[in-house]
Amino acid sequence: MTKNQFFCQIPKAELHIHIEGSLEPEMMFALGDRNNIQLPYKSVEEIRAAYNFQNLQSFLDLYYAGMSVLQTEQDFYDLTWAYMQKASAQNVRHAEIFFDPQGHTSRGISFETIHRGIYRALQEAKQEFGISSYLILCFLRHLSAESAMEALEQALPYKDTIPAVGLDSSEVGNPPSKFQKVFDKAREKGFRTVAHAGEEGPPEYIWEAINLLGVSRIDHGVRCIDDPKLLEYLIEKQIPLTVCPLSNIKLCVFDSMAKHNIKQLLDMGLCVTVNSDDPSYFGGYVAENLQEIESALNLSRQDIYKLVKNSFQATFLSVEEKQTRI
Ligand code: HPA
Ligand code: ZN
Repeated sequence: MTKNQFFCQIPKAELHIHIEGSLEPEMMFALGDRNNIQLPYKSVEEIRAAYNFQNLQSFLDLYYAGMSVLQTEQDFYDLTWAYMQKASAQNVRHAEIFFDPQGHTSRGISFETIHRGIYRALQEAKQEFGISSYLILCFLRHLSAESAMEALEQALPYKDTIPAVGLDSSEVGNPPSKFQKVFDKAREKGFRTVAHAGEEGPPEYIWEAINLLGVSRIDHGVRCIDDPKLLEYLIEKQIPLTVCPLSNIKLCVFDSMAKHNIKQLLDMGLCVTVNSDDPSYFGGYVAENLQEIESALNLSRQDIYKLVKNSFQATFLSVEEKQTRI
């Protein structure tokens, strides 16, 4: 068995994947053609060559531009189905998937169109591949709290199919506290909560996500390393971090994979998990993320087993459901 086969075969859960970030350049072109949308690239190679980021914002600019090809229910279905096929090939048994409705409703696409396409693909993937999944609605933090509240209102009729809300986009300058009221309302309506925090932002944003937004998990969270009290708290409460190693390198959060702190966090006893974030933009799905850290950080088989075990532990599945997924 090759290394890649091993990392593909090991059962795993994926908890940090933006469905719009799984839009591969080939599909971007196909959907652009189908919808008569002109892209500023001549070829797939040119798109891939443009994926050279200096920080989170330089990625987000291309990420939002790429989304423009997603127009119809079928587009959202095709996007999601392609990810689920990939997830199946990598033995992802359960996925908790972010979507960014404000990135689409702001372009005149209805919440219903987005939701129907994504959700139909998830249901079919459950039938065909046996992969269970949950949807997580992410609020775009560079937009206003009012806009987030509007997105929450739009989601209420679909509550049964969206168990959680999250927070993504430009972190620095948009602290979790900006969205406290929206998250209060979401929790009151029965949504669980997660938030991106401590990717580029300081540990204080992680504290805010915990104390003001009531999150069950932190997305990224790697900058917790700068705050010993926070580390102690994350260990004691076993609040999971959904870490995305290839993303962190592509967005220059760490200079190289050898400098990534995931092994350090794992050894300290944090509940860290490995995820792909935006696999099409960052050069790998979850198996490639596992493989890259294994070789750069000399992870043992024990470390890998612990990481994938944590991934199931950190899901929103019930204790009984977790047993059946592994
Ligand atoms: N961080 C913040 N927002 C995002 C990301 C990310 O890594 N990916 C897609 N939206
Ligand atoms: Zn993310």
